[in-house]
Amino acid sequence: MGRQQGMPTGAKPDWSAQSGSAKAWGGRFSASPDSRLEAFNASVSFDVRLIREDIRGSIAHVRMLGRQGIIETSEADSIEEALWTVLYEVDAGSFRLTVADEDVHTGVERRLRALIGDVAGKLHTARSRNDQVATDFRLWTKGALVEICTGLVRMSDALLDVARRHPDVLMPGYTHLQRAQPILLAHHLHAYVEMLARDIDRVREAHRRTDVLALGSGALAGTSFPIDRESVAADLGFAGITSNSLDGVADRDFALDTLYACSVIAIHLSRLSEEIILWSSAEFGFVRLNDAFATGSSIMPQKKNPDIAELGRGKSGRIIGDLVGLLTTLKGLPLAYNKDMQEDKEGVFDAVDTILALLDVFPPMVETLAFDTERMASAAVADFSLATDAADVLARHGVPFREAHAVVGRLVAQCIADGRSFADLADADWAAIHPVFAEHRPPLDGLGSVTLRDVPGGPAPRRVRSALAAATEALAGQRAWIERERLKTDALFVRPDGTPLS
Ligand code: ARG
Repeated sequence: MGRQQGMPTGAKPDWSAQSGSAKAWGGRFSASPDSRLEAFNASVSFDVRLIREDIRGSIAHVRMLGRQGIIETSEADSIEEALWTVLYEVDAGSFRLTVADEDVHTGVERRLRALIGDVAGKLHTARSRNDQVATDFRLWTKGALVEICTGLVRMSDALLDVARRHPDVLMPGYTHLQRAQPILLAHHLHAYVEMLARDIDRVREAHRRTDVLALGSGALAGTSFPIDRESVAADLGFAGITSNSLDGVADRDFALDTLYACSVIAIHLSRLSEEIILWSSAEFGFVRLNDAFATGSSIMPQKKNPDIAELGRGKSGRIIGDLVGLLTTLKGLPLAYNKDMQEDKEGVFDAVDTILALLDVFPPMVETLAFDTERMASAAVADFSLATDAADVLARHGVPFREAHAVVGRLVAQCIADGRSFADLADADWAAIHPVFAEHRPPLDGLGSVTLRDVPGGPAPRRVRSALAAATEALAGQRAWIERERLKTDALFVRPDGTPLS
């Protein structure tokens, strides 16, 4: 055995954790670790979040060691039983890790040894912390992605609910933040539902790529033991196994995918936030925030501030920072595992926590918005927002669109000079602008305008209605996926004899 090389003949090796240091790697060291090294090196303060996944991964591993005859079945059974005990203690809050544990993996093994003695040391046969942490992190990330998906469905529901409650409410559509053409509020909200639907896609895609077992990769170069990776994958609910041991321990694409998916969600929520901030200003006056979802000022008694939306906008910065941080950490790392990779977890935890917090508070904030529908409807047709409809009338009757555009442009300029709007024009005025207008007129109301734009994806009320219905139906499919994944995860944490953990 490699570890015995250089051992003086006759010397009795002492494998107990106390020799040299209490570290999992202490054997070849003669001095105990410096306390500063220990504090700097330890990941336990954050990787404790992987403890349930770590224990469950160990259970699957030790079962396989027993099945394959790599260790005695009785040993595997007693290790598994003790691991369930540790999991129970974790859930009951009675087991704590310490800095001296270095990381969650070593901490769990310490407790195991305290429970069952030296046989605990057999758990780490045919395994390394490198494939172990990759497995734990993938398991954890899968669960997180399912929760994010749940939050996205909830947020989509909220937007759809508001859209359905305001089927005919008009508002100005903008380009360059200048009033452009009338649209329906429901159409505007549905745009966000579409963004979130793509976010759900991205989250599920990240989940699909995360759903691969790394265990069995060893430290980097596999193992000489006759392990059965497929059965471990099945036990842990992974859809497949990694195909290269170096890649298995070194790949963190799944974390990047997750951070990217979180970043795009954050960007979408940030854009919505900006609109809520604008709409709730006196300048727009489209919406009032519910008092329960707004804040005040400590000096200005009249103030009502959209803090949730502002934080929604602001938090996108840290999530993008988490993505850029991990991209930068991974850049230039040689294969396979490097300690740099310990930096992979905190950013993912932060991004997931932040997204889940946003997806918790945004739905009720959006659902309780009170719209000033009259103000929105009058803004929808102000500032010559129907000019395109007027040009379309001419184009529909044979005038080349470019010419129609110029004619209506001149009309707008004239109206501005006269201080009039389209509604102020008399029949004779219209006829004087262009002979087509003697017979055919553009709609002068917002609803007439949107109804004419009856194309797939367009703002006509019947198109918006069917878009909302399609989005609602698609969400049912996403709910079914969430349910299936949840059941799989729940099943992992139930003892084979069905006894509940806590
Ligand atoms: N705490 C480590 C991490 O998060 C676990 C893996 C340690 N592996 C090692 N070879 N030191 O990456």
